[in-house]
Amino acid sequence: MNYITVHDKTFQPFLSEGEIQEAISRIGTAISNDYADKTPLFIGVLNGAFMFCSDLLKSVDVPCEVTFVRLSSYNGMESTGEVRSVVSLQEDIAGRDVILVEDIVDTGLTMQKALANLGALNPSSIEIASLLVKPDCLQCELDIKYKGFEIPEKFVVGYGLDYDGLGRNFKDIYQLKQE
Ligand code: IMP
Repeated sequence: MNYITVHDKTFQPFLSEGEIQEAISRIGTAISNDYADKTPLFIGVLNGAFMFCSDLLKSVDVPCEVTFVRLSSYNGMESTGEVRSVVSLQEDIAGRDVILVEDIVDTGLTMQKALANLGALNPSSIEIASLLVKPDCLQCELDIKYKGFEIPEKFVVGYGLDYDGLGRNFKDIYQLKQE
């Protein structure tokens, strides 16, 4: 097994680059069909979603725009439960069809807060696309229309996801190794 070490922790291979790209292509096709006569505005949630957002846009074949916001609720391997908005939106999203792009939904609090903030700006519609979802960790009702994988309650790194800043550059996704 090709283990990797990030800071003090060992991680094992979990989702390969091929599996990730296949899931993204499936989501891209679904979005292209659902937004056939629209021009969606993708809002990527930094930092974690930068890779997913980039690959997702490449697999969407309707005219679209992209921008980014930065929200933060994680500290090391724990969600703090308190979501801070660090970089806010510059665009006017009134009347737009917004797709929020997230790397992983864990407690769901980040997406809940983002939906509330963006919903107040009167978009025509707003949906969530998340590469990963940890259903067992959800602490709120959340409708995630586009999802790549449902995964168990274990910390993951790679493909944009970090452990205290490191690990984002791996092409594959790795899961914390059981001690
Ligand atoms: P939530 O608000 O608890 O849903 O947390 C969502 C955010 O927490 C994501 O955007 C990630 O930045 C971070 N996060 C949650 N789980 C993991 C994980 O397993 N690895 C890396 N980051 C994670």
